[in-house]
Amino acid sequence: MKPIIATQKASAPARKIPVFVIALTFALAFSFIPLSFSQNPSPTPPGDQAVHQRIDSLLKAMNLDEKIGQLSQLFDFRTEKAIDDAVTKGRVGSLLFVTDPSEINRLQHLAVDQTRLHIPLIFGFDVIHGFRTIFPVPIAMAASWDPAAVTQAQTIAAKEARSVGIDWAFAPMLDIARDPRWGRIVEGSGEDPYLGSAMAAAQVHGFQGDFIGSPDHILACMKHFAGYGAAIGGRDYDEAYLPETLLYNVYLGPFHAAVKAGVGSAMSAYLDLNDVPATGNRWLLQDVLRDQWKFAGFVVSDANSVKSLAKHGFAKDVEEAGLRAFNAGLNMEMAIGFTAFSRSLPAAAQRGEISEKQIDDAVRPILEMKIRLGLFDHPYVDVARSRQILSTPEHRTAALHTAERTAVLLRNEGNLLPLNKSAYKKIAVVGPLADSQLDTLGSWVFQEDLQETVTVLAGLRYKLGSQVELGYAPGVQIRRTFPSFFDEIIHLKAPPVWTPEQSKSEMSKAVALARSSDLTILVLGEAQNMSGEGASRESLDLPGREEQLLEAVAATDKPVVLVLMNGRPLNIKWAAQHVPAILEAWYPGTQGGNAVANLLFGDAIPGGKLPITWPRDVGQLPIYYAHNTTQSPENQGKRYWEEESTPLYPFGYGLSYSTFRFSNLKLGRTEIKPGETIHASVDVENTGAATADEVAQIYIHQQSGSTSRPVRELKGFERITLASHEKKTVHFSLGNDELTYWSTARKDWVEEPATFDIWAGGNSNAELHSTFVIAK
Ligand code: NOJ
Repeated sequence: MKPIIATQKASAPARKIPVFVIALTFALAFSFIPLSFSQNPSPTPPGDQAVHQRIDSLLKAMNLDEKIGQLSQLFDFRTEKAIDDAVTKGRVGSLLFVTDPSEINRLQHLAVDQTRLHIPLIFGFDVIHGFRTIFPVPIAMAASWDPAAVTQAQTIAAKEARSVGIDWAFAPMLDIARDPRWGRIVEGSGEDPYLGSAMAAAQVHGFQGDFIGSPDHILACMKHFAGYGAAIGGRDYDEAYLPETLLYNVYLGPFHAAVKAGVGSAMSAYLDLNDVPATGNRWLLQDVLRDQWKFAGFVVSDANSVKSLAKHGFAKDVEEAGLRAFNAGLNMEMAIGFTAFSRSLPAAAQRGEISEKQIDDAVRPILEMKIRLGLFDHPYVDVARSRQILSTPEHRTAALHTAERTAVLLRNEGNLLPLNKSAYKKIAVVGPLADSQLDTLGSWVFQEDLQETVTVLAGLRYKLGSQVELGYAPGVQIRRTFPSFFDEIIHLKAPPVWTPEQSKSEMSKAVALARSSDLTILVLGEAQNMSGEGASRESLDLPGREEQLLEAVAATDKPVVLVLMNGRPLNIKWAAQHVPAILEAWYPGTQGGNAVANLLFGDAIPGGKLPITWPRDVGQLPIYYAHNTTQSPENQGKRYWEEESTPLYPFGYGLSYSTFRFSNLKLGRTEIKPGETIHASVDVENTGAATADEVAQIYIHQQSGSTSRPVRELKGFERITLASHEKKTVHFSLGNDELTYWSTARKDWVEEPATFDIWAGGNSNAELHSTFVIAK
């Protein structure tokens, strides 16, 4: 059997979102026009002056309607003829959700050939963790603590997307999330602004390449600006109240990092932030984004979030909503059906309430990105090339290695893992997620090749061949109580619900299988639609009867390995005491099953670390490591009388099949002046027998200042590979960026004279400690 890159079944075409089948007719109709392809537009960026001259001459020629058209983006589910009319009349500058390259060429021909000024469309799509090749979900990628691997994943995603004519990804999602009840925690990089910033920059580089318009790359869109992850109660779309200190020091950090990395667009969030919805929030869109950060790209709204300003009770109607979003600094409106901009801006311009210059300023960065992406010169795609790119085997290999790097080993009592093939005659694979392709992928997948996705069961079959007898039983069914709106988009056909008798017998079958086997691999967690947009939860318990299945299988007294597939920390308190080995695989993507099999049998060694604090139970939420200390820090872990207030697993935690020792934390100097850099180094030694990875992490704490500071803050990390008994010295630099924070007391960014603690180690409870001083 093929061990590494294996396709489970013969490859079949990707599942389609609703199809409007006139593509071929139009492609033929336009076939007399020479095609000029959008891939590889230019190996070097165009000069700024040339770009700006081109924009100026376009703006001079454009009328008001054409300009407002450029500010409009519509969903195209290929069901509406109205879209064609809007494109032909220049009333729309961008479409989203078209993914078929022939259809993209057809629509692009309408824009380029039939509009007065031949301005191409820019096509956007949710390319979140892959396009055809699906990588692990973003929270998993953050768990790799490996920015280079994340850049590589998004580079491949960009290449696949660009090959079909998608020029613009609605990613990366940079929302800090400290409440795992929020379903969209799966789309981000977790709770920490430092790790989140590193992942933000890594993703922007992956999507955009060295410059906007790099061959085979696309425009990135940082989202959701800003504060969306703080939705109260973890309820998706709910309001958030964030004081300046949290905004500047935590929630805005990754966005600022993306701007510094050159991100070309941003998406305003749905939420109502401090009583001013983000899409109408001039402080966010103008003061912070443009005035403070000098962001030069454009801002698109989230879907329908302009019209929603009226729903928020912020604007009195859709017309006012359009005007207020525009005045707040929004460039482009994403909408279904029609935009509020089209209803309000023409009349407002005629009334003189908005000037032509304001409109030109809004259009300018949109045209700029279209020019930089090469769309004016190479608007069409080469359909044959796209087919070839989408089936590149190296992309699947990269997905496999990424999945191996993102898994986190949470527990390994008695070194049950790695498993030895020859030690087991019969292995039971149990659980509703063990052989589900869609659930192996996670949310935000529309163009995956489902048939090619390798489940855990399939991965184990490839690995073990006929050497070991493998039995499989799902044991239980899990499903959402209320359906997800995505189920409809991706045509999810839920299997028939088991009768009570079937449920009983399936559970018994699974337990009997475990009892008759030498070892059970339980694959539990959440179905794909239980995590993501519109997928918040009020409980972190294993869904349905999974806990019952877990406890019944564990009661067989045979060794059990628990593999988790999920997008958020779950309540695994019982398992953490009774199940010897727990591997967090997240939603590992196209090659997930092969990666899990490699990890379980030691052909890959887990090295991922948690990008989020893992709570014991839902009642501890929100819980995060970078909290402030209190008047009785010695009781910090005893805030509740019936449960510890410490987490089950700390931020930054993850085991390996090897062990590591940190020593010799050295500081270049113990005292610096504000503005100077302090150099730190630490030795990391692999004290085990296998070559393996460790993530060296550095945390600091400012002991006093104009405001209180968190007990610990991550300020550096590096994932390294060490051979058995190899020792490496890892170096860190703490400069202005690491030592400055926003002080609400002083209303400014400050680097304050104080004593600082510094710790180095393999997670946020690191003990190796030293201090340094910033002198006056
Ligand atoms: C709504 C989501 O909030 C956003 O993340 C996504 O990019 C848009 N819809 C487009 O699908």
